[in-house]
Amino acid sequence: MNLERAIVTGAARGLGEAIARRLVRDGFDVALLDVSPSVKDTADRLAGVREGARTCAFVGDVADESFCDEAVRLTVAEFGGVEALVNNAGIGGPASPSVETLVADFRRVLDVNLVGAFIMSRAVARVMIDQATGGLIVNIGSIFGQQAIAGDAAYAVSKAGIGLLTQTLALELAPSGIRVNTIAPGNMATDMHFDHLRSLARERGVAFETEVEEVRRAIPLGRHGTGDDVAGAIAWLVSSDAAYVTGQTIGVNGGVLLS
Ligand SMILES: NC(=O)c1ccc[n+]([C@@H]2O[C@H](COP(=O)([O-])OP(=O)(O)OC[C@H]3O[C@@H](n4cnc5c(N)ncnc54)[C@H](O)[C@@H]3O)[C@@H](O)[C@H]2O)c1
Repeated sequence: MNLERAIVTGAARGLGEAIARRLVRDGFDVALLDVSPSVKDTADRLAGVREGARTCAFVGDVADESFCDEAVRLTVAEFGGVEALVNNAGIGGPASPSVETLVADFRRVLDVNLVGAFIMSRAVARVMIDQATGGLIVNIGSIFGQQAIAGDAAYAVSKAGIGLLTQTLALELAPSGIRVNTIAPGNMATDMHFDHLRSLARERGVAFETEVEEVRRAIPLGRHGTGDDVAGAIAWLVSSDAAYVTGQTIGVNGGVLLS
C-alpha cells in the first residue's frame, strides 16, 4: 500500500507542525487544518521543505462537522485522494477541580479533543473505504489519558476517550486495511505545555524556570520531548514496518509513564 497524501489537524504550530513537516519531508502531500489562520503561513513554509511538495491549508474548528467534511472533500479534490490522517488538534482543560468546572468548559474540551477526532476520522475513513487503498489514522492522546491527575477531568477524559475511539475504529476499519493507533505524548516542549507550567508556577508561587526544571528532572530520559520525537513515531507508523500494528496506544513520553 502506498501512503502519499495526509491530513494533519492542529498543524499551525507545535507537535502538529512538526508532524506535518516530517510527512512532507518523507514524500507526502499534506493538508494542514487549524482554527488559527496562521496555518496558511505554516503550509507555505512546509511546501519549501521538499521540491515538488504540495501543501494546502484549511482554517476552521475540528468540532465543526460541516467544516471538517468540506476540508476533507477539498483535500481529495486537491490531491486526488487521502491515505493518512493525524488527529492532533487539541486544547488544554479548564484546569480546575471538577466541583468548580463549568459544564460548558468541560463540553468544549470533549468537543475539540474527542468529538473532533471522531468527526475527522469518520470523514476520512469514508474516503479511504471508497478508495479501497487502506490507510492510517493516528490519534494524539496523552499520558493524562492513561493515568488520572487531579484538577483536569475534562482533558483527561477527552484523551482517555481517544484510546477507546482508536480501539473501536481499529476493529471497524481493519477489514478495509485501515490501521488506527494512538500516540500518547508526555511532557513536550510546546506552547501548550509551557502555558500549563506557567499557570502551575503562578499557583505555587514559584518561578516558571523552577517549574520547568522540576518537570524535567522527573522524566527518566532527562529532557522534555519535541515535535520531532512524535513525528518520528508517526513516520514509523506510516511505514510498511508498522503494517501489522493497529489499535495500539504508543507512549512517546521519555519513560515518565510506563504501561
Ligand atoms: N505539549 C504536550 O506536552 C502534550 C502532551 C500530551 C499530548 N499533547 C497533545 O498534542 C496535541 C498538540 O499539542 P501541542 O502541544 O502541539 O499544542 P499547541 O497548543 O502548541 O498546538 C495545538 C494546535 O491545535 C490548534 N487547535 C486548537 N483547537 C483547535 C480546533 N478546535 N480546531 C482546529 N485546530 C485547533 C491550535 O490552534 C494549535 O495550532 C494536542 O492534542 C495535545 O493535547 C500535548
